[in-house]
Amino acid sequence: MNASASPAPAPAALDVEAVRRQFPGLRTRVHDKPLVYLDSAASAQKPQAVIDAEREVYERYYSNIHRGVHKLSVMATDAYEKARARVQRFLGAPEVREIILLRGATEAINLVAQTYGRKHVAAGDEVLITGLEHHSNIVPWQMLCEEKGAVLRVAPIDDAGVVDMGAFERLLGPKTRIVSLSHVSNALGTVNPVKRMTELAHAAGAVVMIDGAQAVPHTPVDVRKIGCDFYAFSGHKVYGPSGVGALYGRAEVLEAMPPWQGGGDMITTVTFEKSTWAEIPAKFEAGTPNIAGAIALGAALEWLEDVGLEAVAAHEDEMLRYGTDLLSAIPGLRLIGTAPRKAGILSFVLDDIHPHDIGTILDYEGVAIRTGHHCAQPVMDRYGVPATARASLACFNNREDLDVLARGIRKVQEMFK
Ligand code: ALA
Repeated sequence: MNASASPAPAPAALDVEAVRRQFPGLRTRVHDKPLVYLDSAASAQKPQAVIDAEREVYERYYSNIHRGVHKLSVMATDAYEKARARVQRFLGAPEVREIILLRGATEAINLVAQTYGRKHVAAGDEVLITGLEHHSNIVPWQMLCEEKGAVLRVAPIDDAGVVDMGAFERLLGPKTRIVSLSHVSNALGTVNPVKRMTELAHAAGAVVMIDGAQAVPHTPVDVRKIGCDFYAFSGHKVYGPSGVGALYGRAEVLEAMPPWQGGGDMITTVTFEKSTWAEIPAKFEAGTPNIAGAIALGAALEWLEDVGLEAVAAHEDEMLRYGTDLLSAIPGLRLIGTAPRKAGILSFVLDDIHPHDIGTILDYEGVAIRTGHHCAQPVMDRYGVPATARASLACFNNREDLDVLARGIRKVQEMFK
C-alpha cells in the first residue's frame, strides 16, 4: 500500500507462489475454471494455519472463557488472551488492556459512537468524517447526531478520491468532538494521511477514531505513531474468521467511557439495585464472545507477520501498478479512485455496461470481484455512478490473476458490442 505514482520499489521479497499454496480455497474451481479471487476487500480467503487454529480449538480444548477453573476453560482462556496480546503487538498498542475483542470494525465504531459519543456529544456539537467513508463509518454517527441534535460534517474528496485537506482543516473547530475516518477507502483504495489528520483533529480538541479494516491486511500499522484514540479492524479481511475483530482505545479514554452492552463478564458486582463495572477491556465485552474465532484471529495475525507485512505491502504495490496499467489500456474502462497513495483496489466502470453484468460474466471466467455500491453510496454519488465493478488485491494475487481479469473484461466488451 503506497504511492502508485512513486518509483518502482525494490524487488518484492514475497514468494507469492509459496503464499498461494497455503490457501486451500484458491484451489477451488468455479464454472470449471481455476478460481481467480479478487474480492479480498469484501472478505479474504483463509490460510491453512487459520483453519487449523480454529479447528484445533473445537477438537482439543473448546470451553467458555473467564468462567471456569477446569482445565479446558483455563486452556481456552489462555489462548484467547494470547490472541488479545497478539492484536496488541500487531497494532503497536502500549497496553494489552487497550484491546477490546468484538465482532468487527462495524461493531467497534458503533461502540465508540454509543459510549464515548453519547457521553461527550451534545446538541450543536459536530462529528467530522470524510467523503470516502463506508456506511459503517457514516450511519453510526448519523444515529448519534440525530439523537443528540449534533451535526455531521463531511470533508469532501476530489476527482481522484483524495480528501481535500484544506476543507478538512476548515471543518475542524471548537465544536468538533469526534473525527472518524477510514485509514484506507474500501471503494477507492485511497490511503488517508491518518497521522496528519489525527494531529489536526487533536489540535482542534477532538478525539480520533480510525477504521482500519482495509488497511491492516496490507501495511504495518502502529497506533502509537498515528497517535489516534481509537483504531478498529475486522478479522475476516485480515485472513482471519468473520464475526471477530478488535478495537484499540487509549486506556485513559476507555476508562472514562461508560459500558455499552450489559451482561456477563462486564461487571464486578450485580444486585437488583445496582451493578458495578469490570475494568477495561472486560467492561466492553459482555457475553460469551467468538472464542475460537478470536484465537484463530491471533493465528491469522501471526501468519501475516511471519509472511512479513513489508513484503506484502511491496508485492501488493507492484500488483496494483501492474493491474492499473492493464486496466487503463482497455478503451472504455474508467478507473474510479486514482489517488497517488492507494491500496490494492481497482474500482471501475466499463462503457455503459452495468457492473452486475460485468461481475456475472467474469464469474463464468472463474474471476470473483465485487460489484455494486460497496456499502459506500455517497462515494458512488460523488462520481455520478450507481455502482462500480471492484477487483481487490491480497498478498496471494499474482500477475496471472490480473491477466485473467483483463482478458475477462475484454470478453465482456465483446459480448456487449
Ligand atoms: N466492506 C466490505 C467491502 O468493501 C464488505 O466489500
